[in-house]
Amino acid sequence: MKTYKIVILGPPGSGKGTQAKMIAEKYGIEHISTGDIFRAKRGDGTELGNKIKELIDNGNFVPDDITIKIIEEKLGSIEGGYMLDGFPRTIPQAEALKGFADINMVIYIDVKDEVLVSRLSSRLMCKCGESYNKITKKPKKDNFCDKCNQELYQREDETPEVVQERLKIYKEKTEPLLDFYKDILVRVDGDQPINKVFEDIKKVLS
Ligand code: AP5
Repeated sequence: MKTYKIVILGPPGSGKGTQAKMIAEKYGIEHISTGDIFRAKRGDGTELGNKIKELIDNGNFVPDDITIKIIEEKLGSIEGGYMLDGFPRTIPQAEALKGFADINMVIYIDVKDEVLVSRLSSRLMCKCGESYNKITKKPKKDNFCDKCNQELYQREDETPEVVQERLKIYKEKTEPLLDFYKDILVRVDGDQPINKVFEDIKKVLS
């Protein structure tokens, strides 16, 4: 079987994390999310953790050098396939990635801005890593995680102002990657139910 070394690209709220988890489980590959890595670091009380907290809570990117180093180290410890969710996010990150990884596919989840804003403002998170949505993916018991029963919360970077800032920075810094990866890029319509998006991705991967 082919070793999948995939990048999943898309604007904030397009469903990268949701689909990446499903793909990683189905194909037995590692899911690496820079967002999850940084959220874990933001509360660790270190100087780096505090700097990351300030940046991500305001919708800004973590500097390229820090991000690239983390991913290069992480990939160095992985034997099989993987799915990169949230990396690369800038042209310098994509250039650096070329030096230490052989990416064979980029999946771009395409969703309109209005849908993104509504999805992000209704997202609920659990400390265990599960993600829900007040409209499209409700937990069975209101405000509690189906898997571990902890209380759900909203992310600090999901106020309307910060969501707009994240979208603006995405267009400026991340959208140019669509052209950078045009030879290995596959577009999937992300404005469909979660399982339908997953069906389309499986077709692309088979
Ligand atoms: P990160 O966590 O990666 O944020 P993001 O890219 O803004 O992505 P999201 O997690 O908000 O959305 P998603 O596309 O994963 O969608 P999801 O599946 O969660 O990064 C956070 C921050 O860290 C960044 O802003 C930045 O500061 C920093 N950072 C990260 N990587 C970096 C890098 N490389 N360089 C520098 N800084 C970096 O879904 C969203 C919601 O929609 C959920 O509620 C979900 O249930 C729902 N949903 C999903 N799919 C569907 C569907 N098909 N239909 C209906 N609802 C759906």
